[in-house]
Amino acid sequence: MTQIDKEQLELIENAQRRIKQKKRLYIHFVLFLIGSILIIVANTVLGIGKDFTPFEKEWFVFAILIWLFLLLYHTFNVFVTHKFMGKEWEQKQLNKLVAEQKTRIEKIKKELKKEASHIAESEIYNEELTIKDKTSELTIIAAAAENNAIGKDNKLIWHLSNDLKRFKSLTDGHHIIMGRKTFESFPKPLPNRTHVVITRQSDYKAPNGVILVNSLEAAIEASKNDSQPFVIGGGEIYKQAMTFADKIELTRVHETFEADAFFPEIDSNIWKETFNEFHQKDENHDFEFSFLTYVRI
Ligand SMILES: NC(=O)c1ccc[n+]([C@@H]2O[C@H](COP(=O)([O-])OP(=O)(O)OC[C@H]3O[C@@H](n4cnc5c(N)ncnc54)[C@H](OP(=O)(O)O)[C@@H]3O)[C@@H](O)[C@H]2O)c1
Repeated sequence: MTQIDKEQLELIENAQRRIKQKKRLYIHFVLFLIGSILIIVANTVLGIGKDFTPFEKEWFVFAILIWLFLLLYHTFNVFVTHKFMGKEWEQKQLNKLVAEQKTRIEKIKKELKKEASHIAESEIYNEELTIKDKTSELTIIAAAAENNAIGKDNKLIWHLSNDLKRFKSLTDGHHIIMGRKTFESFPKPLPNRTHVVITRQSDYKAPNGVILVNSLEAAIEASKNDSQPFVIGGGEIYKQAMTFADKIELTRVHETFEADAFFPEIDSNIWKETFNEFHQKDENHDFEFSFLTYVRI
């Protein structure tokens, strides 16, 4: 039975209850009239209880007054107390309304949160455009599993030779921005790229040619003469770079891994997929993967 049917049934049941209550009141009224006449006749004509005269009045006067009071009380109950559909029904309606309102409030809250994060993100993005060269295209490059895993114990989790080739060819000749931990995960700096390493340590030592900075903003500033600087990781830096980046070059590895570093969620309200190329497993690739490109909407 649908909700509407249930409500209609409740309304019908209530109407029937009201009719019964009114009928009973009417019968009570008729009984009162007949009963009063009978009491008067019993007292005055038949002489029943003739000697019983409280407050020097015939007893039938009190009997009728008490009955009248009961009749009035009954009338009050029918027309005032039970006029509404009963406490239980009212409570049910109230609970239903409260539940509906709560669901609506939750929905509005969720929409507001989403909206606020979009506004904040686009405000930060617009602000940061002034930091970096507007003609340069800050690109995040990463390989992430289905569960967004990117690394464990400061190492990569997989070896996919075509992914490394793609990384090399895309980043060749460019600035590569990275966190200190990712930098330390390389055996040595990569050839033909300008390394920009982010660390909070003021006394951090790095080989000649490596640019050390103490924030992502400073890293972007240091790369502003490059038409396409790349943010190459790891998890901490990717997370911060999502609000600054114009593009994501992602290798999605179609597998789930245990990890301690993760790529952030890609919000489809902010990012649009513009390229998708699937690759099967083969002798050089233990897992299926896809090359994906996202651009900011
Ligand atoms: N699959 C992939 O595509 C990919 C790519 C790159 C890396 N990875 C993996 O990711 C993991 C490393 O990622 P992670 O998140 O642990 O570390 P991370 O992002 O590489 O580096 C974190 C470090 O960066 C510095 N840092 C971060 N935010 C900063 C800020 N706002 N200002 C100044 N310094 C800041 C801090 O260095 P200090 O502690 O020196 O202050 C921090 O400890 C490794 O497992 C690596 O293999 C995977």
